[in-house]
Amino acid sequence: MYRYLIRPLLFLIDPEKVHHISFTAIKWLSKLGFSRIFRKIYLLEDSRLEREVFGLKFKNPVGLAAGFDKNALLYNELSNFGFGFVEIGTLTPRPQSGNPKKRLFRLKTDQAIINRMGFNNEGVETAVERLRKEHKVLIGGNIGKNKLTPNEKATEDYIICFRALFPHVDYFVVNVSSPNTPGLRELQEKAPLTALLKALKEENTSLSREKKTKERPVLLKIAPDLSDEQLLDIIDIVRDTATDGVIATNTTISRQGLMSDADLVKEAGGLSGKPLRSRSTEVISFLHEKSGGSFPIIGVGGIHSAEDALEKLKAGASLIQLWTGFVYEGPALVKRINKAIISETN
Ligand code: FNR
Repeated sequence: MYRYLIRPLLFLIDPEKVHHISFTAIKWLSKLGFSRIFRKIYLLEDSRLEREVFGLKFKNPVGLAAGFDKNALLYNELSNFGFGFVEIGTLTPRPQSGNPKKRLFRLKTDQAIINRMGFNNEGVETAVERLRKEHKVLIGGNIGKNKLTPNEKATEDYIICFRALFPHVDYFVVNVSSPNTPGLRELQEKAPLTALLKALKEENTSLSREKKTKERPVLLKIAPDLSDEQLLDIIDIVRDTATDGVIATNTTISRQGLMSDADLVKEAGGLSGKPLRSRSTEVISFLHEKSGGSFPIIGVGGIHSAEDALEKLKAGASLIQLWTGFVYEGPALVKRINKAIISETN
């Protein structure tokens, strides 16, 4: 029904508007008692799907990637579509409006999206207020820096977000890989990245002592555009800073192999969806092999089918996430993937 009825209607409307319309629809349908119906249709509960990764127990390994529920508006409602975890953010210390519109483009021929949202978000404190209610699902907090914060002061922004979210999320993601905040990806270089992750580790230890609770797992989210040499550096940095894992990958700045209109392909921003699949899997394989599987990887990028998901898991991912595939294939994709994972374990 989604692919033949709902998607063609939604795809007639501007993509950013559709995102808001869908959020409003999900919110109101959930309030009207549809949550139980969604769970009945989309949720698959089975002990064979359970995973323990970086000390957390996931009901299933399929998550919603960052950037979908940036402001922690609907994490419980979105979990009704069968996700084992939902990542909120990227959040920054202060609210910011992001880049001018239009900044989100569908490349239908390629089953892809180009976005240059630019960390539009309501700020970490607003998200904290929304996170105070009971969580039905594990929540990741994806954090970044404000556009106007220079890179020399970036650590302070990440620390502000880390402190604010610490009591309210199950794991953290350090986003240094969005192509839409000028200069952000320079923080993936060895020296600044090591300093940032070390500072967060210290904060993690001191907050856990202060609040008499466990440290939160901290993951690093990387770009698919890093060279092999840079990926080898990432492995060293993860080890040296005791970082708990890596999310591979964010969107790409590459436009290789696209078939959509040249005007669309030319749009600036990060590309996600089908064309990203193979590069993202390649990065996962590389990290997994070269590190000897010494840290968990969350695989994300171009998962549009159960086969795509299994490919990421076989490449070495412990968990996976969706964004563009969820929009193109609809919520039933989550269940299809979980079913396939169960079949593989038989
Ligand atoms: C994203 N993504 C993203 N990632 C992140 O770490 N912080 C963010 O704020 C966002 N925002 C965002 C907005 C939009 C419109 C898209 C399409 C994507 C990246 C996302 O989490 C994921 O890493 C990539 O999109 C690759 O996965 P898919 O989309 O190919 O499944």
